[in-house]
Formats: sequence, structure tokens, C-alpha cells
Amino acid sequence: MENTIISKERLIPGQTSKLVIDAPHIAAKAQPGNFVILRVCEHGERIPLTIADADPEKGTITIVYLVMGKSTAMLEDLNEGDAILDLCGPLGRATHIEQGGTVICVGGGTGIAAMHHIAKGHHKAGNHVVAIIGARSKDLLLFEKELKEFAPEVLVSTDDGSYGHKGLVTELLRQRLEADDSVSEVVAVGPVPMMEAVARTTEPFGVKTTVSLNSIMVDGIGMCGACRVTVDNETRFACVDGPEFDGHKVDFAELRQRLGAFRPLERESYDHHCRCKCNESK
Ligand SMILES: Cc1cc2nc3c(=O)[nH]c(=O)nc-3n(C[C@H](O)[C@H](O)[C@H](O)COP(=O)(O)OP(=O)(O)OC[C@H]3O[C@@H](n4cnc5c(N)ncnc54)[C@H](O)[C@@H]3O)c2cc1C
Ligand code: FES
Repeated sequence: MENTIISKERLIPGQTSKLVIDAPHIAAKAQPGNFVILRVCEHGERIPLTIADADPEKGTITIVYLVMGKSTAMLEDLNEGDAILDLCGPLGRATHIEQGGTVICVGGGTGIAAMHHIAKGHHKAGNHVVAIIGARSKDLLLFEKELKEFAPEVLVSTDDGSYGHKGLVTELLRQRLEADDSVSEVVAVGPVPMMEAVARTTEPFGVKTTVSLNSIMVDGIGMCGACRVTVDNETRFACVDGPEFDGHKVDFAELRQRLGAFRPLERESYDHHCRCKCNESK
């Protein structure tokens, strides 16, 4: 049945899960860079999640999410065989992929899964893909195996040094750029501070840098204005003009501020959800 969860894998228990969902209409059209907007229940909010992979033959899409608040916690409560109430997509512009060159795809945290689909697109177009992935520690690292299936180089960093390079992904990126002047593009998906740091790192090298912005979205079709971001001093809507933009031209300070605008309300809503679940189980 459409929107049914075919499989669920708890990648980091209680924190990050991967769902493979039956969604043949979305899978048939999904391109790297696209996302879906879903709703878990009748009065639930609409949340955007990147399509981390799509299999048009099986009619499935894959999403990977971090439990951040109420809606992702409700999604985490679903299991194999459950259906997602609404699933809308594919949304957003597909990644612009140019052929012939070395492309460095940088992913941080849950962003590694979202970056995976983009990296796969570059590989299919014949580009040499270097994946640079980072997490706080080894147990929080996602999608290394999946990336190794097609990327000839997968470089890993962890903040605590428990695996790979001890430090940040931007240190590996700088080293790679210093050693290789044939890099045609750098793509970054992850937390806003990471994408901002990637853009700052690539600027002196003059390398095209694409970032995938995770601004707050409501309708996802360009009508509500919730997702507005400033790029090159112009207002753009991330849902229809993006979510990918030139990282050297994004106003990251504004993005950070807008993402935090509802934090107290989100916290309250999440705490209420947790309390209600506790009461129900009594
Ligand atoms: C295009 C796009 C793709 C995304 N892809 C992924 C993904 O693949 N995996 C993943 O884990 N997360 C992804 N996100 C972020 C994800 O949408 C939020 O984590 C989710 O909406 C949080 O909802 P919540 O109710 O659980 O948390 P809340 O407590 O409501 O919010 C926690 C934080 O999540 C963000 N957020 C909240 N509501 C929205 C919203 N409607 N739209 C965007 N951000 C919101 C804000 O930064 C907020 O502070 C993506 C966001 C965008 C815009
Ligand atoms: S989410 Fe409403 S305009 Fe982009």
C-alpha cells in the first residue's frame, strides 16, 4: 500500500533512523537534491525530509531523519507496516550536475544521508566523487558503507578522533583542495555552521560551492514564504528556488536566526508530547 514503511533501520538508536517507504509515484520522478514533505497524523505539522535514495523499479524512496522534536519523534514511533498519512514530492529543484570533473561531496551528521543521493548522481554522470564525511564520534557516523559502494575516495573525520582524521571535515577538505587543483565543485550538506565553514574554506580556492539549505518550510511549493533565504542580496524561496544555492552568496547569519525563531515553542511542544506519551503508558 502506498506510503507504507517497508523497512525501518535504527541507525543510531533513539536518534536517527532510516525508512524505506513504498512511494512509486515519487520514486519514479525523484532526482538527487529533491525532498518530500510529510505529515504523520491529521493535526501534525508538515516536515521536509530529503530523499536520501530512490529505487524507481521497486517504487521505494529512502529517508533518514534525526529526532529533533515532536514531529520527528512521532515519525520515530512508526514501524514497518505502518503508513505515513501524507507524503508529498518530489519537491525542490534537482541538483544541477555537470559532467566531467572531480566533485567533493561533504556531509555532516544526518546530512551525510542527504548528500549520498547527490554524490550518487555525480557518480552516475561520470564524475570522480570524493566523499568527505564527519561526525562527533565513530558510532554517530552514517552511510560510510553506502558511499564506498560507488565513491572511489571516502575520507572520514570525527571530532573525538575515534575514527579517521581527528578534527573537522573542513580540515580534510582544505588538505584535499591544496593537493588537487582539478576539483570542479564542492557540495556540502549538513548543519548550517558546517555548510558555512565549508563555503569559507573553498572561497580562497575559487571552487564552485553548493550548499543544501534546510530553512523552515511549510507548504513547500512557494506560496507561504516561510523558507525565504537571502542569496546574493536577493530573497529566494528555498523550496522552489533551491534547496541548493551558491554557498559563497548565502546569508548564513539570517538563516541561523530564522531557524531558531520558534525554538521555545518547539521545545514546549516536544516536552508536551513526551509527557503525554508517559501518561498514556501509565
Ligand atoms: C529541504 C529540507 C530537507 C531536510 N532534510 C532532512 C533530512 O533528510 N533529515 C533530517 O533529519 N532533517 C531534515 N531536515 C530538517 C527537518 O525538516 C527538521 O529537523 C524537522 O522539521 C524537525 O521537526 P520536529 O517537529 O521534529 O522538530 P521541532 O522541534 O519542530 O524543530 C526542531 C528544529 O527543526 C527545524 N524545523 C522545525 N520545523 C521545520 C520545518 N517545518 N521545516 C524545516 N525545518 C524545521 C528547526 O531548525 C527547528 O529548530 C530538512 C529540512 C529541509 C528544509
Ligand atoms: S515553504 Fe512556503 S514558500 Fe517555501
